[in-house]
Amino acid sequence: MAEVNLRIGTEYEANDPVYMKATGSRAVFICGKRGSGKSYTMGVIVEELFNQEQGKATIIIVDPMGIYHTMSLPNEAQADQVRNAGFLTSGFPIRLIVPGEPLIRYGDAAVLAKLRENGVEVTQLQINAADLSSEAWCELFDIGINEAMGIALWRAVDTLHEKDQPFTVDDILAEIERDTRAKDTSKEALENRLTVANRWGIFAREPTALNNVFSLSHVNVLDLSVLDAGTKGLRNMVLDVVARRLFTERTRERRREEFGLSTKLPRVWLAIDEAHQFVPKGRTSLCKGMLIRWVKEGRQPGLSLIVATQQPAAIDPELLSQCDVIIAHKITTWDDIYALDRLSATYMTGDLKSYIRSLNRRGEALLVDDETESVTTIRVRPRFSSHGGAEIQEKTTRKSLF
Ligand SMILES: Nc1ncnc2c1ncn2[C@@H]1O[C@H](COP(=O)(O)OP(=O)(O)OP(=O)(O)O)[C@@H](O)[C@H]1O
Ligand SMILES: [Mg+2]
Repeated sequence: MAEVNLRIGTEYEANDPVYMKATGSRAVFICGKRGSGKSYTMGVIVEELFNQEQGKATIIIVDPMGIYHTMSLPNEAQADQVRNAGFLTSGFPIRLIVPGEPLIRYGDAAVLAKLRENGVEVTQLQINAADLSSEAWCELFDIGINEAMGIALWRAVDTLHEKDQPFTVDDILAEIERDTRAKDTSKEALENRLTVANRWGIFAREPTALNNVFSLSHVNVLDLSVLDAGTKGLRNMVLDVVARRLFTERTRERRREEFGLSTKLPRVWLAIDEAHQFVPKGRTSLCKGMLIRWVKEGRQPGLSLIVATQQPAAIDPELLSQCDVIIAHKITTWDDIYALDRLSATYMTGDLKSYIRSLNRRGEALLVDDETESVTTIRVRPRFSSHGGAEIQEKTTRKSLF
């Protein structure tokens, strides 16, 4: 396999280029306080990956803020900075993946028209009701599996799963209706919830095939900002289903590769912003188990992960301990410094917290790489493409982005 080295910035003092090795699969953890440059840095890594791995890796950004579609445009706002660093500004081919019907999700045809005008390709993602286990259906509605309602829902979904066929929300409704053991009150309450689920437009009898969703010639942006951010909820459910399908598919494709056969899904880079929403510490989430499995078992099938968060202390430590690259921007909260400090490696001459204290400005970060056993203070390079994060901080509604 050809060497892949991502030029993510320059050394703080010597100004030499700094590379992050990305030949094999990696688990990257980006952290820093609000506005320190995490999302921007994640964009830099994605740009580098795309420039070097286009056609050879599926690159997916999980975007809970709805800010990464701006990567289709060149970074005009910082054009001088880009030029002074010796680069050219450029937009990237972006495929925006929307769970459900895009027009309903954005609720505004003008927004969709603007996205398309900016060169963004908009695709819808639909999943099958059978993609969720009986437990996941109960969790999605936050119903205990031991409550009367949970028991009825679990039973209905389980009966449908036994047939080993795709099914719809209507099929679940019909199954509940048929259930002679369930109480009428439970049936009615479930009917209400499932009717709402039907309206989301996310479930379809024919789920979207992975090959039709994720493109090798685009940066794929999964826009989760269009879904409610419940603690367990919809966003986690969609990410769980997507990650699980990619994991299964990659494991299968890996087997083909070992026999020298062609592959439809080469290695995958999954970059998750605001990752504490998905892999929280101290509580469950619909996608947590899958993402921890992704980092633990992903090396062999070529699955890489990048997670970014403001709060290292709010991320599950099991996931953190698997990360082999840390990019730490300025952090000031004691809890977060402590969570990060626990990741200090044996090859460091000091503890992480004393390194982090030396960081001052936006875009400055500490790069800790287990593969090269190095700790480097870096300036992250300017972005080639437009960064959407700043606008969203200044304006309040997503529609005002356009
Ligand atoms: N390496 C950099 N070079 C130039 N400007 C940068 C760099 N990193 C960050 N910035 C600037 O800082 C702003 C904030 O960065 P960013 O949106 O990445 O912060 P964040 O850490 O993700 O914040 P939040 O916690 O609110 O998500 C950006 O809009 C950008 O203008
Ligand atoms: Mg951010």
